[in-house]
Parts: sequence; structure tokens; C-alpha cells
Amino acid sequence: MINRETIDKIMDTARIEEVVGDFVHLKKRGTSLIGNCPFHGEKTPSFHVSVTKGIYKCFGCGKGGDSVRFIMEHEKYSYPEALKFLAQKYNIEVEETVETVQDLEAQNAKESLYIVSQFAATFFEDQLWNNSEGKAIGLSYFKERGFREDIIKKFNLGYSPDVWDALTQDAVKNKHAEEYLEKTGLSIRNDKGKLYDRFRGRVMFPIHNFTGRVIGFGGRTLKTDKNVPKYVNSPESEIYHKSNVLYGLFHAKKAIRDLDNCYLVEGYADVLSVHQAYIENVVASSGTSLTIEQIRLIGRFTQNVTILYDGDAAGIKASLRGLDMILEEGLNVKVVSFPAGDDPDSYMHKVGAGEFKTYIENNRQDFILYKANILLAEAGNDPIKRAGIIRDIVESIAKIPDNIKASVFIRECSSLLAIEERVLLSELNTMRAAKFKKASSPQARPAQYEDMPPADLMADNEPQVTATATTNDDLQEQEIVRLLLAFGHELVSWDKIDNMYIGSFIMQNLTDVTFENALCKKIIDHYRTEIENGQLPTANQFIKSEDREVADLAITLSTSPYTLSENWYNKHNIYVRDETINLKATILGGLYHLKKRKVDRILLDLLKEIKMESDAANQEILMQRYAFIKNVEKEISRFLGSVIVK
Ligand code: UTP
Ligand code: MN
Repeated sequence: MINRETIDKIMDTARIEEVVGDFVHLKKRGTSLIGNCPFHGEKTPSFHVSVTKGIYKCFGCGKGGDSVRFIMEHEKYSYPEALKFLAQKYNIEVEETVETVQDLEAQNAKESLYIVSQFAATFFEDQLWNNSEGKAIGLSYFKERGFREDIIKKFNLGYSPDVWDALTQDAVKNKHAEEYLEKTGLSIRNDKGKLYDRFRGRVMFPIHNFTGRVIGFGGRTLKTDKNVPKYVNSPESEIYHKSNVLYGLFHAKKAIRDLDNCYLVEGYADVLSVHQAYIENVVASSGTSLTIEQIRLIGRFTQNVTILYDGDAAGIKASLRGLDMILEEGLNVKVVSFPAGDDPDSYMHKVGAGEFKTYIENNRQDFILYKANILLAEAGNDPIKRAGIIRDIVESIAKIPDNIKASVFIRECSSLLAIEERVLLSELNTMRAAKFKKASSPQARPAQYEDMPPADLMADNEPQVTATATTNDDLQEQEIVRLLLAFGHELVSWDKIDNMYIGSFIMQNLTDVTFENALCKKIIDHYRTEIENGQLPTANQFIKSEDREVADLAITLSTSPYTLSENWYNKHNIYVRDETINLKATILGGLYHLKKRKVDRILLDLLKEIKMESDAANQEILMQRYAFIKNVEKEISRFLGSVIVK
């Protein structure tokens, strides 16, 4: 176990903005930093980092936490792994207490998979450059295909000897456990229990994760025999998850960020060739059709994707649909297609690096227009087919989350398809409405506060309200918790109160209120107990709570400016732009709004009761109670409407 002092040192040193900044491009906004969330795809940033609180929070997907949590989520590390990662980043020596053998084994197992993968990569590379078979067969193959030595070296290409167990034997000789050879798929056990190599007589492409560690391999055969699979690939393993790996990303990520564009190709060979043309911002999906995870991975580095396509028509059509997924993630998609029969790799070798670069720079087309053109050419003059195209194109446009962008495409397609813009727009609206209906099922839809108009089609750009609820008092209860966390420690003197902590003030005013949301109740109860014991709790206490739910809510509320909608504050003339200026209004507003909610509920229940009550005398009693409470409600409303404004 990592000892307490080390953990504290790491926590003190690892600044949230630096840790997150390594993975997310952060921009300053107000007192916090914002960027595009690395955990879900998005085009408008909703990922906030609070430097002062040392935490991050995404208002889109809800993820939040401190530096360690970020690394755990982002790198899929365990807690100790994340701590070690940060320790390494900040050159902090990790002091560990003795662990059980089992602890050590569990921690080391994954590391061992990385180590044996790196061992294999070095082995294959050595075979390519220093072994006579490797040189004669592997290296000369690459050279015949026109790959330069610097490219072969840059990507650590290798060669696997054409024998049963060359790698396995060498690995075992070097004390690598068979278990890890098997788990990485480098070795396979036959019926007789003997291990043999998965990769034999193939040129090898190591696959790196985006921090540069080897996690798997692709091995290409040198035979033209149709019965031999062209590529053999590493299986999925604890360190290799195909759906979220992009071949070449490690070598490309800096250029992708710098140039704010990512070229996407299909194969290993294409990545090498594009690099050889001095274009480094290129990755491959490598055989699998593009996954949502891969798109989001790209989205962390840039919002612009340019697909480099084979010139083969069947392939293009098949992939058109997959590309809609990129649009849906809010990325901008461009396409470069090559002359029939050429892929980026063959075309680069045909025309040379210089001309290749010019070609892809001059032949980008916007994906939607590209798609429209392809479908139009295919449909010819067939009116029915042409009508089908309209639907198809508008369907793609409907996937674009940004309204302005979408309307630009509508205009362009209107002239391309010779159809009135109006017609396309109405088609677009129909589709969006259908999509919206689907998306606004109770779980999927962000909660809107009661005063807000129902989200309409144009609500895409509305700020999201973080809390979740409309039919209960969650929002109001959360607002109280937020106020406690944000202002509990401020001393105030208002009217009759003198030099009192807001925390105590709020608690005093809540004696008649029952919290219904279990989580809010837990926090409020804890707060109350602490105050009763003479302690004023800090926000940090809740943020760092071992109760994950409590911590999550505390983080959400500490980073969220207003739980209640701004509309509500505006309606009551409270200036939310800087709520600290009118702290009194903010605090009283929160308190009385909660009370009003509670009272409204009581009134509603009473009304129901009155309606159900058949006995006239009983009804009379209920009516009196109703009138009394209604007066309380009026008082509160009046208070909200007038007193607070001062
Ligand atoms: P390609 O056939 O285009 O491969 O398949 P390539 O990399 O361009 O190879 P060359 O040019 O023929 O040498 C594209 C990608 O699909 C995956 C590989 O990742 C390949 O890079 N693939 C292809 C397989 O995994 N298995 C196969 O049998 C074929
Ligand atoms: Mn190819």
C-alpha cells in the first residue's frame, strides 16, 4: 500500500489544471477553466475545472472528481495506479508499506502484460534489423514497398521468424511467465499443452496506446496465398481494447492538436505512407469499422476529421453511414477521395510525397456535399431515387448538433439538389422532432426548472440544468446544500442577526423543513450534527467524503453556479451574475423558495383531500387549514417578490 504521507504529498502537488491539461485543452472562463469533456463527445465545452477547489466536473455527462479521480477515469487506472502515475509526473518518491503477495500480483499482472508486449516488440524489431531471415524477407519487403528507414524505425516495425516458437522460447528464456504470453495472445497453447507463437513469418506492426506503450500487434503475411489471412492481430486483452484504440495516435497526437485536424485512414500501411509524406496527423481505425469510442478519442484532440478514402466505390458507399456517427458527435467531417483503385498508401507511392501532400490539401470536400454528390451520380435521372437521396442527406444534416452549421448545409444542399431550402428545412424539422421526442424520455432529458418553457427544438444550446427532477423538491433541496457548501463559512450581520455564520443561519431556518431527497438529507443531517457539536463543516469535508454519492453531489454543487434556473432568479430580480453581491437575497431566496415548494405541496395535498372528503364538517376543517396555509404561502411569495429585491 502507498503510505499516507505519499498520498498527501501527491494530492498537494498534483494541480488539477495541470493534470487535466495534459489531456484536455482548457480555456479560461471566469474563475474556472473549461474544455471539451474527455469522457463523452461534445462540441460545446461543458467540462469545468475549478483550480481553487482542485476538482473537475462535466455538466454534460456528470463526471467529476479530483486529480486522482481524473486519472483513474481517464486512463482506466486503479487508485494506486493513478497515484503512481501522478507521482511519476511530479517526481514524487512513492513510499509503500509491505503488501500481501496477492496485492502485488493483482497490481503487477497488468504491468506484466505491458512488459511482455514491449519485450515482443523489441524482439520483432531486432529480428527485422539484425537477423538474416528478417533482413532478407521482412526488411526487404518494406523497402520494396517504398518505405523509408526512418519510417520503419519510427513505427518500430518488426519481423516474426517463420518458425513455431521463436518468440515464446526467447521470452521464456528471459524469465517472462507463460501466463502473460498467453494473456497478451502472443503465444497460444496447443492441445498438448505446448506454447507456440501467434505471429510467424509476418512483418509486424506494434500497436501503441496513446501514451506510447505497446499493447498489441498486427502481423501482415508476405504470401499472396488467398487462404492465408492477410493480417493476424492480437486478441483483446486486459491492456488492448480494440474499440478504443487508434493505430498511430501516439505518433500523431501532437500534430493533430497543433494542426487542429486529424486524417483518418483504414490501414497500417496507409498511416506509414502518409507519415512518409511528412503528414503526421494521421490515424487508422485498423480493420474494425470506426467506433464511437474512437471518434471521441479523436474529439479530445481536435474537432476536425478528414477521411482519406480508397477510390473504390463500393467501399465508399458502405462507409457513408458510419460517418454519420462522426457528425453526431459534433465533429466536422471532410473527405478526400483518391482516383479509382488507389488508397492513400498506393497513391503516395505513385505520385511521391510532395504531390501527395498537395493533393490532399486541394481535394478536401465537405462530407455532406461529398455524400450528396456520390448519391446523385448514382441516382442519375431516376426521380424516385432522387427523392430518396433528399431524405438520406437531410438525415445526415439532422445529426449535426449545431443548428447554425446545419442550416449552412441545408442551403448548400438546396442548390446542389435543386430543391427549395424551405422543403429541406421542413424535412429537417420533422426528423429533428422525431429525434427529440426519442431523446426526451425521462432519463435522457436534462431536467428543466418548472418556470422554464419546455425545451423546444432550438434548446440545443440552452445551458443544462444539472440537477435532476421536476416532480419533487430535489432542485430546491440541492440549492440549500449548495448554499451551505459555498457560503457556510461566511460571517454576516443582517437585520436582527449579528455576526453569524451563514451555515448556522441556514440550519436555524430549516428546523421546520423535512428533506425528501435522501442524499440531500444525509448531507443536511450531517451538517446539523456537526453544528450541534460545535463544528462548522467545510465544503471540502463533503467533497472528499468517502461516501462516493455524497462526494459526487458535493462536487457537482460546488462547481455548479446555480441549481435553480437563472430564470427563477431573474423573475425575482436577483442578480445571479454575481450572487455574492447580494448574498442575503441569494440565501433567503434559496430558503424561502424551498419553503414555498413545501407549502405548495401541502396545499396541493390538502386540495385533494378536500375533494375526496364527503363529510361537510370535515371538509370545513380542511378548508380552514387550507386558508391558513395559503396565507403562509402568500407571505412567502410576497417575501420572495419584494423583500429580497432590496
Ligand atoms: P488493408 O487490406 O487496406 O490493409 O486493410 P493495409 O494495411 O492497407 O495493408 P496493405 O496495403 O495490403 O499492405 C486495412 C486494415 O484492416 C485490417 C488491418 O488493420 C489493415 O491495416 N485488416 C485487414 C485485418 O485486421 N485483417 C485482414 O485480414 C485485413
Ligand atoms: Mn493498403
